[in-house]
Amino acid sequence: MHKIAVVGTGYVGLVTGACLSDFGLEVICVDNNAEKINQLKEGIIPIYEPSLNFIVERNVYYKRLAFTTDIKFAVENADVIFIAVGTPPAEDGSADLKYVYEVASNIASYINGYKVIVNKSTVPVGTGKAVEDFIQDRLKERNVDFEFDVVSNPEFLREGSAIYDFTHPDRIVIGSRSKKAVDIMKNVYRVLYLNETPFVETGVETAEIIKYASNAFLAMKITFINEIASLCEKIGANVQDVSKAMGRDGRIGPKFLNPGPGYGGSCFPKDTRALAETGKKYGSNISLVEATILANERHKLLMVEKVCNYFGELENKVLAILGLAFKQNTDDMRDSASITIIKGLAEAGASFKVYDPAAMDEARLVFKGIEDKITYCHDEYDTVSGADALIIITEWNQFRNLDLGRIKSSLKSPVFFDYRNIYRRSFMEEKGFIYMGVGQ
Ligand code: UDX
Repeated sequence: MHKIAVVGTGYVGLVTGACLSDFGLEVICVDNNAEKINQLKEGIIPIYEPSLNFIVERNVYYKRLAFTTDIKFAVENADVIFIAVGTPPAEDGSADLKYVYEVASNIASYINGYKVIVNKSTVPVGTGKAVEDFIQDRLKERNVDFEFDVVSNPEFLREGSAIYDFTHPDRIVIGSRSKKAVDIMKNVYRVLYLNETPFVETGVETAEIIKYASNAFLAMKITFINEIASLCEKIGANVQDVSKAMGRDGRIGPKFLNPGPGYGGSCFPKDTRALAETGKKYGSNISLVEATILANERHKLLMVEKVCNYFGELENKVLAILGLAFKQNTDDMRDSASITIIKGLAEAGASFKVYDPAAMDEARLVFKGIEDKITYCHDEYDTVSGADALIIITEWNQFRNLDLGRIKSSLKSPVFFDYRNIYRRSFMEEKGFIYMGVGQ
C-alpha cells in the first residue's frame, strides 16, 4: 500500500489528505504553520467545510491520518507526495509559484528513493515540467541520483461540497509521462477506479490546461446567464425559465446556469485571470475569458446600481444584508460579490446591518476600513429590523424559509432585493413586497 504525504493543509490539501485516508491509505499532512498543525492534532479544523471534521477525527483515531510540520520526515516516508500549497495571484494576475518551488526544493533535499510528485495546486501550463527540471538540477547539485516522476492531478472541488466532490468525481485527470506513475496514481484512487469513475490519462501540460479550461468555462457559463438575466429585465422576460429551458438541452446542461450577483471565490476569479494571462503570454488571446472577467465585474456593479436607482439617495439609508460568503456552506469571502456590493453602496452613503451564518469573522477583517458603517447581527430578523431594504447576497438554505410576514413587518419599507433568485417575483409581490430579483 502506498504511503501518502500531502504538503499544504489549506482547503485542497486537507480535503485530499482526509479523503485519501478515508479510502484506507496512510496519509501524513504537512504544513509549515505550526499553529495550524497543532490545532489539527487537537481535532480543530481551520476551515469551514461540512463533515470534514468527522472524516479527520475518524481517520486520526484509526491512525491512518497524521499531521506534522516535519517535511523531511514526510518526504522520506512517503512514496507519493501531493503538492497542495497556495498559488496566490501575483500583481499581473498570473499565479505566484513561490510556495510550489519551496516544496519542490524540500523534496529535492530529502528524497531518498523513487517518489511520485503530484501537483494538486492549480498551476500554469508548463509548471509540471519546470518542477521536474528544478528537482533534477537540485539533485545534480547534490550529486545524487534518485528516480522520480511529476504528475499533474488537478482538483475540481467546490467549497462546501468538497467531500462529496472528492468521493464522487465526474473524472480523475492524471497527467504524466510515466506509466509507472500513472499505475501508482490509479492505485491511490483505487476506490474510485473500482467505482468506474472515468480516468483521463494525458500529458502533464494537457492536465494543467484542463483545470483552467474547466473553471474558465464554468465562469463563462455563469456570466452568460447573468448577462441574459440583465437583458430579461429590460424585455420583461424571466431568466429562471430561460435557464430551465436552456438546461434541458443536453448539449448545454442545467448546472451553473443560476444567475446571481456575480461569481467569486478562491478559484474562478484567480483562474480566469491566470488563463487570460497565459493566453496573452503565448500570443493566443482567449478573448471570451477576457470578456468574462470584465462582464463579471460589471455585473457586480450592476447589483450596486439597482439599489442606487431604486432609492435615488442612500444617505441615511440602512440596508439589511443576508449572506456575505461567496456562496453558501462556506465562510470564505475571497472575491465575494458582497464586497463589491457593500463597498459600492457604502460609497453611495448607505450603512448596513449584516448577517451570515458562517462568514462573520471573515467579514470583520474584509470590511475593516468601513466598520463604522456596519452592524453585525445575530440572525435574519435582527438584521432586517428597522432597515430600509433587504438584500440577499448568498443563497444559504436558511434564507429560503424566511418568515416573510415577520420580515415585512420588521422592515421600514418592504423592499426586497433577491440577488440569488431564492424567491419568485409573482409570489413575493402577492405577499406585498417590492421585489427585485436577478432577471425576473
Ligand atoms: C470552483 C469549481 O466549481 C471547482 O471545480 C474548482 O476546483 C474550484 O472552483 P468553488 O469556487 O468552490 O468551486 O465554487 P462554485 O460552486 O464553483 O461557485 C463559484 C462561484 O460561482 C460562486 O460565487 C457561486 O455563487 C457562483 N455560481 C455558481 C453562480 O453564480 N451560479 C451558478 O449557477 C453556480
